[in-house]
Amino acid sequence: MILVTGGAGFIGANFVLDWLGQSDEAVLNVDKLTYAGNLGTLQSLQGNSKHVFARVDICDRAALDALFAEHKPRAVLHFAAESHVDRSIHGPADFVQTNVVGTFTLLEAARQYWNGLPETEKAAFRFLHVSTDEVFGSLSATDPQFSETTPYAPNSPYSATKAGSDHLVRAYHHTYGLPTLTTNCSNNYGPYHFPEKLIPMMITCALAGKPLPVYGDGLNVRDWLYVGDHCAAIREVLARGKPGETYNVGGWNEKTNLDVVHTLCDLLDELSPRQSGSYSEQITFVKDRPGHDRRYAIDARKLERELGWKPAETFETGLRKTVQWYLDNQDWVQNVMTGEYRNWLVKQYAA
Ligand code: NAD
Ligand code: DAU
Repeated sequence: MILVTGGAGFIGANFVLDWLGQSDEAVLNVDKLTYAGNLGTLQSLQGNSKHVFARVDICDRAALDALFAEHKPRAVLHFAAESHVDRSIHGPADFVQTNVVGTFTLLEAARQYWNGLPETEKAAFRFLHVSTDEVFGSLSATDPQFSETTPYAPNSPYSATKAGSDHLVRAYHHTYGLPTLTTNCSNNYGPYHFPEKLIPMMITCALAGKPLPVYGDGLNVRDWLYVGDHCAAIREVLARGKPGETYNVGGWNEKTNLDVVHTLCDLLDELSPRQSGSYSEQITFVKDRPGHDRRYAIDARKLERELGWKPAETFETGLRKTVQWYLDNQDWVQNVMTGEYRNWLVKQYAA
């Protein structure tokens, strides 16, 4: 069995669904179910004995110890985090708690469990930490992409806490020998993406006839990767990555936010046209994000060279699939638009 944290969130749930779609190995899914966790995403696994769900906070050491003792996982895949940069600006405390204290607590529980394993199982055990390219800070238009040796320079409370968690994972390998792996990935998109993030935000606002809120001048650059490609990369790193190593994951898809929003509007104009005019008429420039990183870009050559991973989707094919998924799954979108999410929209966008 593998233990997945955050498996009811966007990437974790895609990972669990993909994993159980192609493997007989069971998943213990450990998730606190914050506003970002949604069991509706995992509905197709109801009655599947290979999926065991535990509503547990990764800061709860006793609960983690009990799960390790009962289920004896051969690997931990750690997705759970507070993940939205704008929320980290309004309230950083939850980010420190889950991303730093939670990762520390999980590492301690994993280390104790791992120490008690017989030698062959100990050698085979893996702790895979899912992290982000934001730990490397911001690039200028002419800087080379982030590589695995780019110095850390996090700029938001979110990225600072992810950087803290990366450092803890590194230290647990270096000091205790825990067989860790870290992936630093660029911006994901795809099915089950919570609508607070750029791409699903734009799709849901467009269909609701609301303004499409573009921060600042809209020229910030992100490097987009289809979530299924990220999940495939994680499977490769788990299977063949070298303990103690870090791997950058990216799609070679640098786009300005404005380009992304225009491409989404074009796709919606084609797949679900308005009565008249284009969705691009809804684009509205709003106040910039404080400390907004200008550009992220990933050099993913190590992963390709050492483990043979390459993304299967282009931005065009991945984005088309994603827009179609949102059009076909309006029920899922309505279910995650809880009171908490409506409060967030007012807090972030009211001005
Ligand atoms: P998400 O916010 O959609 O999901 C996070 C999940 O973690 C939710 O299910 C939530 O309930 C759970 N969770 C939060 N706090 C918890 C706690 N204390 N205990 C247990 N569970 C808890 O996030 P995501 O976008 O799926 O990101 C998953 C991971 O990938 C994160 O570590 C994030 O930093 C990293 N990452 C994300 C992206 C991206 O573009 N979304 C890119 C690179 C890396
Ligand atoms: O780079 C990886 C990171 O990508 C992950 O670690 C984070 O968890 C994930 O949330 C994402 O962070 P970003 O801040 O890049 O993603 P977000 O979707 O919030 O914003 C993408 C860009 O779009 C960013 O430049 C801000 C801008 N934006 C975002 C929103 C929500 C807007 O212009 N308007 C918006 O309403």
